Amino acid sequence: MTVRTGIFGATGYTGVELVKILARHPAVEIRFVSSQSSAGQMLTAVAPTAPPLPLVPPQDAPLDEIDVAFLCLPHGAAAETAVACLDAGVKVIDLSADFRLRDAAVYEQWYGARHPAPELLAEAVYGLTEFARDALSGVRLVANPGCYPTSILLAVQPILQAGLAAGTIIADSKSGVSGAGRAPKQSTHFVEVADNFSAYNIGQVHRHWPEITQGFGLWQANPPDLIFSPHLLPVPRGILSTIYAPLQPGWRLADVWALYAQTYADEPFVQVLAPGQLASLAHVTHTNRCAIGLAQAGETLLLTSAIDNLVKGAAGQAVQNMNVMLGLAETMGLE
Ligand SMILES: NC(=O)c1ccc[n+]([C@@H]2O[C@H](COP(=O)([O-])OP(=O)(O)OC[C@H]3O[C@@H](n4cnc5c(N)ncnc54)[C@H](OP(=O)(O)O)[C@@H]3O)[C@@H](O)[C@H]2O)c1
Repeated sequence: MTVRTGIFGATGYTGVELVKILARHPAVEIRFVSSQSSAGQMLTAVAPTAPPLPLVPPQDAPLDEIDVAFLCLPHGAAAETAVACLDAGVKVIDLSADFRLRDAAVYEQWYGARHPAPELLAEAVYGLTEFARDALSGVRLVANPGCYPTSILLAVQPILQAGLAAGTIIADSKSGVSGAGRAPKQSTHFVEVADNFSAYNIGQVHRHWPEITQGFGLWQANPPDLIFSPHLLPVPRGILSTIYAPLQPGWRLADVWALYAQTYADEPFVQVLAPGQLASLAHVTHTNRCAIGLAQAGETLLLTSAIDNLVKGAAGQAVQNMNVMLGLAETMGLE
């Protein structure tokens, strides 16, 4: 089986990462990579370590030649491209936020614009792969989760599913600068970021907050509240979330650790660290893994969860989702 793919937004940080993964995937053929601003050039002109592929303008992308489109585009542009792809009979894996929130009104509230294709929201599968395998099989539209949500949801799923959480969960997350995308902004300028460490959009105002709380609702009917405080870390890539979760009285760390070990025993990409070990970026960068460490402070469970935002938090999880969607071995191209 050969899966013919096209990548929209191939010059961005997630796009380049995705092209590199797909280029070494044994069941994939890349039919096109698209760019608005660099069409006519080779991808290597923008990203020297990427495969030497010609960049086509998105409007000339040959949709009749592909089975799966990956959208590495800003929100809004992604939904419009998704509609064109689906109309052409092409399956879509969208790395943007456009199809992650179930409710178009919530999308409008958080993204400040009407949803371009609200009729597709009910159909899109939220692709947190480890908990979406049945829903992903054969589907035509996948909403790839956000990077911060991936690091937090994989870490809290076992306690929510088991009904152990007993109060507001605090997620204190730090991200490398590639999380903000390739377009330069003052806040991601080298001089602002280097030798610095800063918080932004803390509390309940970051756009990933509704996505994470929606995810909590997948596993618990009345989920705990969330305080989510992101930080900008002066490294290119990686997310470390330190999560504080009060649990029901009387719990023992050994029992909760056993619950995590059991939940993720057969997962190729989730590594529950040995008791006493804490997750770090070094556990995961340039891999599709999520590393989770557990510790205790009184009645509060302390979770450390690390991912590479461009791999497990974006391109790697997108390929994992494609593999499951098409019935390929889930780890193909990702080991
Ligand atoms: N960075 C992360 O860690 C991360 C993680 C998970 C999800 N995401 C999401 O994935 C998507 C891509 O993120 P990214 O970090 O790769 O962004 P990026 O580095 O800014 O790249 C996006 C690419 O899309 C193209 N583009 C920009 N505006 C466009 C428009 N209006 N219409 C069509 N194409 C446009 C640009 O390429 P051309 O000008 O060459 O066309 C740009 O290189 C975003 O929705 C983001 O929220 C990012």
